[in-house]
Amino acid sequence: MAILLLATLLPMETSSVVAQQSTSKKLYVAYLGEKQHEDPEKTTASHHDMLTSILGSKEEAIDSIIYSYKHGFSGFAAMLTESQAQQLAELPEVRSIKPSIVHQLHTTHSQDFLGLDYIKPTGLLHDAKYGDGVIIGVIDTGIWPESASFSDDGLGPVPSKWKGTCQAGQEFGSNLCNRKIIGARWYDGHLTPKDLEGEYRSARDAHGHGTHVASTAAGVLVPNVSFHGLAAGYARGVAPRARLAVYKACWISGCNDGAILQAIDHAIHDGVDVLSISIAGPSEEVLNGLHAVNHGITVVFAAGNEGPTPRTVTNASPWSISVASATLDRAFPTVFTLANSTSNLVGQSLFYGPKDNDNWYGIYNSSCFDNTSVTINGTLASGKIVLCYNPKPMMTKSPPFYLLDVVKTAKEAGAKGIILATYAFDMLDGFQICGTMPCVLVDFDVATHILYALKRNTELVVKVNPALTWIGNGVLAPKISTFSSRGPSPLFPQFLKPDVAAPGSNILAAVKDSYMFMSGTSMACPHVSGVAALLKALHPDWSPAIIKSAIVTTASNDQFGFPILADGLPQKTADPFDYGGGFIDPNRAVDPGLAYDVDPKDYTPFHDCFLAGNSSCESESRNLNLPSIAIPNLKEPTTVLRTVTNIGQADAVYKAVVQSPLGVQISVEPSVLKFSEGKNKQSFKVTFTTTHKVQGSYLFGSLAWHDGGAHYVKIPLAVRPVLSNIYYSDV
Ligand SMILES: *[C@@H]1O[C@H](CO)[C@@H](O)[C@H](O)[C@H]1NC(C)=O
Ligand SMILES: *[C@@H]1O[C@H](CO)[C@@H](O)[C@H](O)[C@H]1NC(C)=O
Ligand SMILES: *[C@@H]1O[C@H](CO)[C@@H](O)[C@H](O)[C@H]1NC(C)=O
Ligand SMILES: *[C@@H]1O[C@H](CO)[C@@H](O)[C@H](O)[C@H]1NC(C)=O
Ligand SMILES: *[C@@H]1O[C@H](CO)[C@@H](O)[C@H](O)[C@H]1NC(C)=O
Ligand SMILES: *[C@@H]1O[C@H](CO)[C@@H](O)[C@H](O)[C@H]1NC(C)=O
Repeated sequence: MAILLLATLLPMETSSVVAQQSTSKKLYVAYLGEKQHEDPEKTTASHHDMLTSILGSKEEAIDSIIYSYKHGFSGFAAMLTESQAQQLAELPEVRSIKPSIVHQLHTTHSQDFLGLDYIKPTGLLHDAKYGDGVIIGVIDTGIWPESASFSDDGLGPVPSKWKGTCQAGQEFGSNLCNRKIIGARWYDGHLTPKDLEGEYRSARDAHGHGTHVASTAAGVLVPNVSFHGLAAGYARGVAPRARLAVYKACWISGCNDGAILQAIDHAIHDGVDVLSISIAGPSEEVLNGLHAVNHGITVVFAAGNEGPTPRTVTNASPWSISVASATLDRAFPTVFTLANSTSNLVGQSLFYGPKDNDNWYGIYNSSCFDNTSVTINGTLASGKIVLCYNPKPMMTKSPPFYLLDVVKTAKEAGAKGIILATYAFDMLDGFQICGTMPCVLVDFDVATHILYALKRNTELVVKVNPALTWIGNGVLAPKISTFSSRGPSPLFPQFLKPDVAAPGSNILAAVKDSYMFMSGTSMACPHVSGVAALLKALHPDWSPAIIKSAIVTTASNDQFGFPILADGLPQKTADPFDYGGGFIDPNRAVDPGLAYDVDPKDYTPFHDCFLAGNSSCESESRNLNLPSIAIPNLKEPTTVLRTVTNIGQADAVYKAVVQSPLGVQISVEPSVLKFSEGKNKQSFKVTFTTTHKVQGSYLFGSLAWHDGGAHYVKIPLAVRPVLSNIYYSDV
């Protein structure tokens, strides 16, 4: 699995699951279904017996099992040859067996932007007592326990329901857990000595990603944090009094399915309330998380960093929350001056000085990269600022994918800086490696202006001033980040994904003993985990489905009357495939009025259908009571059932407000719902009919229940009309 890894992080090697000789062993994950024994040890013993029947020796069986799952469901991960795996698959008890795949890692003012005021004595943060007592489990690369963000000063005792442990290891004694980091476990059973290079064999975070994520979800208030003076202020997590349970299943070498499942199984046993999983594309989308949700745990995933390409969203299981990334109302404008020119040009950077920078440099114009590699001529770039002007590769990708190489090559060539023309400004963190060398992103207008000036005067020189920090309404935000993966889910188009968007661009949070910027849906995910923790603290009786419903149905679609935009080429108004219900609005999520609740048992038909090898399982999905409706192929009139539970005032009347997509007629029956004491659930039918027969693209709309007052319970709709069954992919 990928930790959603972006520019600042080293690329992870993806383990090859390619053809290997049948005698070589690799890690397989076997799923046996619901646990048979209440006693976990009996479950483990039954795994040993089962494997003994194939391997012949009990000792060999016990040695082969790397991870054992016994709290949420029954299963194990074992080192097996292909033929042993096949034999195992033939046993009637085994419901599925798959090679355990290695994924890659993906990548504070955001809390204020979310309206989570720290000091004001009202609002969700205050009412939820800053998340006190709620336990957020973070499955990631571990944690740096000495970071000021994880101080337990002033925190009460460890919640009594906690049953986890603080597993000691390399440079991580069990004394390093405290009342903030209440537990830590790590999973290295599947790693080779090479995988462990540069690593700590413990929950200590050699990478930075896990520490960043954990401090974003639940870091305490830390004053005087900045990146060399930029973005200065207090650092804090969304739920600063929530407790952290750390599960290091990701290493610099990647995140392995088998280890992630073990972490989830332990989290179920340990008593976490919310699981924050900033990992891309688990192959076992279905297994990951359902058992945790069955145990009342809210599971939050990153949506992926493959945007703005459509059909790239991952983690599309219906029981989890899949989080898209958005920008903040914060920018780092960087003014630079061309000699003998009165106009100042502006880009964005993290260039922090020297403050009185008066260095003027010549400019070397280069395309900087072709399709595959960086091409900066060292002789020509030496002593100059490299202007990277190359519209083509920028059309489809965010800069970071070649940024590291551009910076490295430019530095090696002795360049004095980089001005890079781009369409995507939502990810500056790759420039942190520039240090005191100015590296500036500019749009193509500015770059063209420089090119023309350069044409008139080949001796042109330029001076870059340090970046400023701008915060507030002047910055149009939020916008969906360019890199944020988009729907529909290629695997499960019947579930509208992603579910919601949260801040994920240029997020400053803890890394080792300091604070760094990272960008990615990995950073958006813990914002939602933190909000889920606050909601759980305030409403301990809310199920994971109610928490998700509250977050999705109250999310916003505009800011100051402007529709929320989605970055990409071209920039456009965001739709549900960019951000699901919209941009998260925590203070509205406290009191959604109605909720789309789901009994976890209702997921079983879909889960079983998928496990049985059916690809779409649409009929098992349609009436799952999700806070969204997606119909990937609307031909005949189609009726979808939903039930809402009143979690507001007992007496309430809600009226349906429908925004139908053009060409689709939507009727809601009944269109008025009356709730009273003793009648807090109401079901309704939504019927979709195409009025214009056409082989269509996806169309979007919404259905809201409005009580005439503050409650406007809105779910997104995505419908694709089709004429024939031979439909094609047109997003
Ligand atoms: C924050 O930094 C400023 C200036 O460096 C200093 O005066 C102040 O005492 C610091 N505050 C804290 C709480 O450390
Ligand atoms: C600005 O223009 C003047 C006259 O054209 C020239 O002498 C001077 O060198 C220029 N300054 C820079 C920094 O290029
Ligand atoms: C700058 O570089 C681009 C691509 O390398 C080239 O097409 C263009 O002609 C150059 N412009 C100038 C003014 O040198
Ligand atoms: C870049 O890719 C395009 C399309 O794949 C190809 O036509 C072109 O030749 C490639 N250019 C280079 C320099 O490799
Ligand atoms: C770099 O530019 C110099 C000067 O124009 C030229 O002699 C050299 O061949 C170029 N190097 C490469 C690798 O293109
Ligand atoms: C797939 O689903 C259909 C209908 O739900 C069912 O009849 C069929 O048996 C399923 N196929 C498998 C392989 O489970």
